[in-house]
Amino acid sequence: MSLGLQNYVINYLHKYKTMKKILITYYSRTATTKKVAEILAEKLGADIEEIKDTVDRKGAKGYLISGRDATLRKLTVLEKSEKNLQDYDLAIIGTPIWSWNMSVPVRTYLHDHKGEFPEVAFFCTMGGSGDERAFREMGEIIGKQPITNLALKTAEVVKNLAGERIDEFVGELN
Ligand SMILES: Cc1cc2nc3c(=O)[nH]c(=O)nc-3n(C[C@H](O)[C@H](O)[C@H](O)COP(=O)(O)O)c2cc1C
Repeated sequence: MSLGLQNYVINYLHKYKTMKKILITYYSRTATTKKVAEILAEKLGADIEEIKDTVDRKGAKGYLISGRDATLRKLTVLEKSEKNLQDYDLAIIGTPIWSWNMSVPVRTYLHDHKGEFPEVAFFCTMGGSGDERAFREMGEIIGKQPITNLALKTAEVVKNLAGERIDEFVGELN
């Protein structure tokens, strides 16, 4: 093997060994948070897992029960997750904002896995407000402060205007 190739292989192996293993876990009712999760996974080379609720939250009825249950800080029953948090160095958790709170499935996920989290970072999508309280409570439930947070408005995500803010967030994770 030439010296150049040897150095390339050594550098590659070193980079691979020192790279953080990242899991992105998100809930999304109408695919906005999902879009951000997928962009992040691509940029970070991370694994991704969707939080799946057993409650049907579609349509107007789903909207109403979701808003009410978020306000009441209720929990739900989730489908079993496939990824094991203990296999990762960093968990990035994404939620939509419901009634100025985190979504009910994300609250449940955090409760269900309390004590299993490595380092964390949070992101949310929202019409306009509620991110601060949601992020604060997310940290409180698992007893960890996030490395950083990212709050995006639905319109920014839908119109593909969030690229710069997403890149900043990615930069803060390293
Ligand atoms: C039940 C419910 C309550 C909501 N409450 C808020 C809110 O308090 N503040 C806000 O900015 N957006 C609120 N929204 C808007 C969502 O946060 C926003 O549309 C988000 O991007 C949806 O993400 P998703 O498509 O991943 O489900 C609410 C949406 C739902 C369904």
